[in-house]
Amino acid sequence: MISDQAKKEIDFWVTKYPEGRQSSAVMQALTIVQNENNGSLTGELMQEVADHLQMPSISVQEVATFYENYNHKPVGKHIIRFCHNISCMLNGSDELISYLEEKLEVKTGEVSKDGLVSVKKVECLGACVGGPMCQIGDQYHEHLTPSKLDNILDNLK
Ligand code: FES
Repeated sequence: MISDQAKKEIDFWVTKYPEGRQSSAVMQALTIVQNENNGSLTGELMQEVADHLQMPSISVQEVATFYENYNHKPVGKHIIRFCHNISCMLNGSDELISYLEEKLEVKTGEVSKDGLVSVKKVECLGACVGGPMCQIGDQYHEHLTPSKLDNILDNLK
């Protein structure tokens, strides 16, 4: 269930758009609701977003399933979004993703046993010159190697 606080935050974003265009705030609304729900969305929550923004639920689902930043199953406290697009792939992203899976004993799309991390393969994040790269939270990590990854993982709490 969406909290009153989250609804207030969504309504703030609604004010950024012309009257009657509240559906334009759908991406912010989904982000707010997802953050409130430990990083993932459910069908019920998407329906609530649709109701709150007075828009068809299929339109909310279209947005929520198109963009990589919305999750539809439980995720770890930290999500490692690993780019596996062409530039990163040519620079070794597949090997590094396998390294991560082995080290964390987790498959892509799953959550580590301690709930700390989940790994997600994503398309180009626009930092091709820094490949192989990943995003954790708001931060990009570029020119990755196994030892750089070890360092990054050691600092996740
Ligand atoms: S291909 Fe990886 S960031 Fe563009």
